[in-house]
Amino acid sequence: MKIQNSVALVTGANRGLGLAFTQSLLAGGARKVYAAARDPGAIKLEGVQPVRLDVTRPGEVETAARDLGDVTLLINNAGIIRGSAFLGENGLEAARAEFETNFFGPVSVSRAFSPILGRNGGGAIVNVLSALSWVAFPNSATYSASKAAAWAFTNGLRHEVRGQGTQVLALHVGYMDTDMVRGITAPKSKPEDVVRHVLEALEAGKSEILADEVSRRIKQGLSAEPGVYLLPPAG
Ligand SMILES: NC(=O)c1ccc[n+]([C@@H]2O[C@H](COP(=O)([O-])OP(=O)(O)OC[C@H]3O[C@@H](n4cnc5c(N)ncnc54)[C@H](OP(=O)(O)O)[C@@H]3O)[C@@H](O)[C@H]2O)c1
Repeated sequence: MKIQNSVALVTGANRGLGLAFTQSLLAGGARKVYAAARDPGAIKLEGVQPVRLDVTRPGEVETAARDLGDVTLLINNAGIIRGSAFLGENGLEAARAEFETNFFGPVSVSRAFSPILGRNGGGAIVNVLSALSWVAFPNSATYSASKAAAWAFTNGLRHEVRGQGTQVLALHVGYMDTDMVRGITAPKSKPEDVVRHVLEALEAGKSEILADEVSRRIKQGLSAEPGVYLLPPAG
């Protein structure tokens, strides 16, 4: 996958990591960047093409796939966090909402765009996952479940599109400095640094990128004894 001359579609492109993706793709020489948002009026970056796309609305996914037949790079970035525990007051509702956006959203958009990528020579799909795909915090356990499911989806999808030459890249990362974790005072990566790592990994043909120290430490801890996911969260 080369960024130069690519035609990219970024979901949740109006702010946070999605905005950083659109900026870096333009700077990296993408031929076209479709900046998708629930409200396309929220796309303020010049040089991109705003697209209306709520990833939980099948009609909008269908329309996007019908209209954007030249996409070669799909970035499944849109996501939400409800800050919920399973046994909390709204735990079930939060889990459902997070699964709709963080799991079924990328599934639905990838199902719609995989044939397009295949017709355009293969291309690539980036799925924005999390260090929390692998561990759970009490105040965001339902989010972790949705990102764990999205990780499993990513691993399955990779096999399903290999034959058509589509690269599937999973991004795992800890806190980034965006609205999503505005209230948290832990060290955070800059979205533009994370995007740089992702685009380098894409061009290197990789299947997984661990964009910060936290995600690398947690992944190593999966095979530790006891596994990192068994330990009560620090703090
Ligand atoms: N920030 C972190 O610490 C962190 C860490 C690991 C992974 N992530 C992941 O990184 C991705 C980007 O998050 P962020 O940090 O940039 O968060 P953010 O600043 O809250 O931005 C989230 C983006 O997703 C969009 N979105 C939400 N629901 C959507 C839907 N149904 N359809 C289309 N777009 C939707 C939002 O659009 P609106 O403006 O319309 O709400 C917004 O553009 C997410 O997948 C998140 O889970 C974040």
